[in-house]
Order: sequence, then structure tokens, then C-alpha cells
Amino acid sequence: MNTIEKQSIVFVGGKGGVGKSTSASALAMMFAQSGDKTLIISTDPAHNLGDIFHTHIGGEKVQLGDNLWGLEIDPDQETRSYIKGVKGNLKGMIKSSMIDEVHRQIDMAASAPGAEEAALFDRMVSIILEEKEHFDKIIFDTAPTGHTIRLLSLPELMGVWMDGMLERRKKTNKNYSQLLNDGEPVEDPIFDALHKRREKFAQVRSILLDPTKTGFIFVLIPERLPILETEKAIELMKRVQLNIQGLIVNKILPETADGEFLQKRKDQEKEYLQLMKTKFTEQELYQIPLLEEDICTPDHLKTFARHLRAEVSPGG
Ligand SMILES: Nc1ncnc2c1ncn2[C@@H]1O[C@H](COP(=O)(O)OP(=O)(O)OP(=O)(O)O)[C@@H](O)[C@H]1O
Ligand SMILES: [Mg+2]
Repeated sequence: MNTIEKQSIVFVGGKGGVGKSTSASALAMMFAQSGDKTLIISTDPAHNLGDIFHTHIGGEKVQLGDNLWGLEIDPDQETRSYIKGVKGNLKGMIKSSMIDEVHRQIDMAASAPGAEEAALFDRMVSIILEEKEHFDKIIFDTAPTGHTIRLLSLPELMGVWMDGMLERRKKTNKNYSQLLNDGEPVEDPIFDALHKRREKFAQVRSILLDPTKTGFIFVLIPERLPILETEKAIELMKRVQLNIQGLIVNKILPETADGEFLQKRKDQEKEYLQLMKTKFTEQELYQIPLLEEDICTPDHLKTFARHLRAEVSPGG
């Protein structure tokens, strides 16, 4: 069976505020404690890894503890450097009289919907390819559900989109070579650049789609709407061939919570847990209790990690 203990890349997703960052951090801490060199990466524009680990984390990885490093990707900054890169690549390829117009078009494209995701995804792709040799585990703390799914389906979309671009480029080149070069092929740096990107994406795509290498975990709380939403998310992910293999059911009222009011909620939670067991037969369920305090010190995180370890590798 493919368990997160064996996979080298783990994505943690879920709705807002359910405990994704906490779970991802605890998971990273758990792996680091077992001796795996671990990198935790936040792709949520509203970063809070820094708050959880009580240190400043930015675009470059920083050490957070033994075997543990962290990194926050800033979509805004990524979009800017992505655009700079695109402009740089085009230097020398287009006529100088065209440069202003082309740059204007690129700037427009940069503010179009999806551009931030594309830039973010581009960085994720590079990080995966660069860092997978240096780390045993890479954990992604992602933004709330919808965003994540779109992000993860991008390689699929980009594949199709880039195939189209490459095809068109090939045709143009053919016309050019017939016109200008007596049918001999012309050199085309844009085609080469596109092709390289295509290869890079294909490589990462095959890693993401390989369940022995990559795992997807969703965090939810034991309530009706989150259960229904998670069901939908699992379906959506399935459509792009990504299987969510585990669910962290967070903030479950502990047995020790007393009082009539809490008893009523606990009874309801039991029903929902039962419902989850019948609905989510293909997923492992990891149950984490609501702790007395929110997770704001390293000790709290350790407690959370201990609960997680007991669920992920019982007896381990
Ligand atoms: N099991 C738990 N017991 C007590 N508090 C918890 C537990 N899990 C998470 N929390 C608290 O719940 C809040 C939300 O957690 P967290 O920031 O991890 O959620 P998130 O899903 O990453 O949120 P966002 O969608 O905003 O990124 C935090 O204050 C955290 O300390
Ligand atoms: Mg978060």
C-alpha cells in the first residue's frame, strides 16, 4: 500500500481554517523527527508557516529545526519574476520595433486570471525538480480547496495548451523554411524553449501522478458541509487522475470534553465519523482531537504531531 511514510512528496489541502498549515507542519515535524530530511513549502498567498514556527520564512529555504527546512512561495513575486523571465527569453528573438508591443501584451497576460497560478505552478515545478534530490520529504501546505485543485490540474491543462503552441510553431516554421530556406529547417529558439518547458512539466506530472512518489491529504472537520465538500473535491481530483489517499479529520471533540452541550456535539460527531467511514472507503482516516489550546507553540505542534504519528503509523 502507498502510505505517506513512503512517498517523498505530500500535498496537504482542504477548506479554509480546518488546520491545513498545522497538519502540514506537524507532518513535516513528524518526518523530520524520524530522521527524514524534510522541506515544508507554503503555496498559500496568506502564509502562516512563519507564525507557526515563530520565525521569518521567505522565498529562500530556511532551517526550522533538526532535519527541517521551510519555504514560502509568494505568488505576486513569482508572477513578477516569471514575467521578467518570459521577457528575457524573448530578447533577441523579436524585432526591436516590436518589443514595446510584445511587452505590453505580456503585461496584459500577467494580469489575466490564471497567471498567478501559472507562475506559482512554474515555481513549484522547479522546486520539485531541484529539491527532490536534496530532501527525503517535501510537504506542500496549499491554499484552500478550489485553488489547490485548479493548481494541480494545471499540468493537465498546460500540457494541452503547450502541445497546441508547439504544433502551431512547427507549422509556422515549416512555412518559413519553405519560403526562406529552400525547405531546410530553420532554427527556432522559441520552439526549443517551449519544448524544454514541456519536458519539465511532463517530468513533474509523472511524479505527481505516481502514487508511490506523491500523496494527497485532505484536512476536514467532522461536520456535514465539510464532508460534502470533501466528497466533491475527491471527485474533482479524480477527474485529473489525482487520488486523495488520506483524510485528516481534525478538531474532533475529545472523550474528556464534558457537559450536556458537548455531549450532544460528540454524539453528532460520532454519526459524521460513521458517515465518513462509509463515504470515504478509498481513503485512510486520521483522527486528531481538538486540543485545549490553538497550536501556537512548538510544544503544541509536537503534541499535534504525536497524535498524527499514532494515526499514520500506529505502533510505529
Ligand atoms: N486539533 C486542533 N486543536 C486546537 N486547535 C487547532 C487544531 N488544529 C488547528 N487548530 C487551530 O485552528 C486554527 C486554524 O488552523 P490552520 O491555520 O492550520 O488552518 P488552515 O487550514 O491552514 O487555515 P487557512 O485556510 O487559513 O490557511 C489555528 O489557530 C490552529 O492553531
Ligand atoms: Mg494555512
